[in-house]
Amino acid sequence: MNRRSFLRTSAAGALAAGTGGGLLYGLGLAETSPRPLPLIPLRDLSAGLDGRVPLRLGPGVHDFGTGAASATYGIGSPYLGPVLRVRNGQTLPADVFNGLEETVALHWHGLHIPGAVDGGPHQEIEPGATWSPDVPIAQRASMNWFHSHTHGTTARQTYSGLAGVLLVEDDDSLAAYLPKTYGVDDFTLVLQDKAFDDDGRMTYELTGQVFEDGFEADVMVVNGAIAPVAQAVPKGLIRLRVLNACNARFLRLSLDAGPLTVIASDGGFLGEAVETNVVVMSPGERYELLVDMRERDREALLVSFGDGADPLELIGDALGLGTEVLELRRTASRGFDGAPPRALASLPPPDRTQATVTREFVLNMGQQEDLAALAAAWGNFCGEGGMGINGRPMKMDRIDAEVRLGDTEIWRISSEDMLHPFHVHGCSFRILSQNGGSPPAYASGWKDMVHVEEGWSEILVKFDHPAPARTPYMFHCHILEHEDCGMMGQFTVG
Ligand code: C2O
Ligand code: CU
Ligand code: CU
Repeated sequence: MNRRSFLRTSAAGALAAGTGGGLLYGLGLAETSPRPLPLIPLRDLSAGLDGRVPLRLGPGVHDFGTGAASATYGIGSPYLGPVLRVRNGQTLPADVFNGLEETVALHWHGLHIPGAVDGGPHQEIEPGATWSPDVPIAQRASMNWFHSHTHGTTARQTYSGLAGVLLVEDDDSLAAYLPKTYGVDDFTLVLQDKAFDDDGRMTYELTGQVFEDGFEADVMVVNGAIAPVAQAVPKGLIRLRVLNACNARFLRLSLDAGPLTVIASDGGFLGEAVETNVVVMSPGERYELLVDMRERDREALLVSFGDGADPLELIGDALGLGTEVLELRRTASRGFDGAPPRALASLPPPDRTQATVTREFVLNMGQQEDLAALAAAWGNFCGEGGMGINGRPMKMDRIDAEVRLGDTEIWRISSEDMLHPFHVHGCSFRILSQNGGSPPAYASGWKDMVHVEEGWSEILVKFDHPAPARTPYMFHCHILEHEDCGMMGQFTVG
């Protein structure tokens, strides 16, 4: 049996068990009633700034809901960072202080910013030091995030909690007839999978198998609380801004009763709202959803997942499949009472004739390497080994591609084995094809992530910001253990 069919079989087994991944916590928690949805603290800078914005990275202690204190990392909080809200045209003057006992880098995922402030692995922050980039916000309204991008330890550090959300607003999004009251009808959801030991403490261990599959655990966590969580909402439309911050899991999202309305993807609003039963999110992807609570007392967001294989293929697009992660309970109060909008933004179809350069990237698993031996030898560090792109593992001192500033290019990406989420820094792109077919309607707007399997995935991408060889942009698999293990490359724009 080859690797892929093995994965299919084991994922199908998990589904047969009835839960799409089996959320059996092993801690006697599966029976408990939902805990409240934690609201991530909002730092709203969109109306103006007074001074620099501190982001303090440090160790924390956090109870995910097991009753035990887990050792975590956080950004101004014991676990995870804030939701920062900024406006197109602003400059975000961040002071990123490293209060950890190890080196970090902090990357702004999704921002269209020069390499010099991108926060890739060349921009290391030593313990006790502060990195102070002035981050120019120059893009449409969109949900972005920031997370560890430290060379070789991105996976463990991000899992530990070095991740936060960055919402960009613009004139259109602020004027749009949509729910936008944070914590009332507008919620940010950070979805992650976590493993816990018998005492209920969060665990992370790199083994050869974890390098290969990426780290996958069976307990879903929403904003740092073990699912299911519940939230009271007013009668009206509810907006959910969802980030898949898992290290490696693809998540299949659906609702218990009705279809999802998708209004935005990684890079901002879709041309028009897309109604769909299912959204499949890779690690690193963001989608904004509307849930219609005008006629319903209750609705639930469901998540299911396979093991490395394509969950859509396995499960189909029926409603009501999966495990409840968030329950919305309607109260008597009146909320946003509009109908879901149809037209959202102007989104001309991608025009491939604009491209002047075509490049090809093949993601390699490097199975000839003994990943178990690497894991044992390196402890929780992988770095420049094992996996690669176009046969070459990531090297900090090698530039893999040089792009001319202002050029539009077609990048064709495929994979030798397994499904991978491919990400490019410094831009948003359009997906021309995904694994040899058309992308789903909800993924046909602005994106910075594309799913890659054996068939070619093609993106149309324009590079508008410079990245010199000192601080190049990265392109990589967003299964963080694959990234750490070498499935990453570097490019300059100039
Ligand atoms: Cu979200 Cu290079 O990363
Ligand atoms: Cu990025
Ligand atoms: Cu990968």
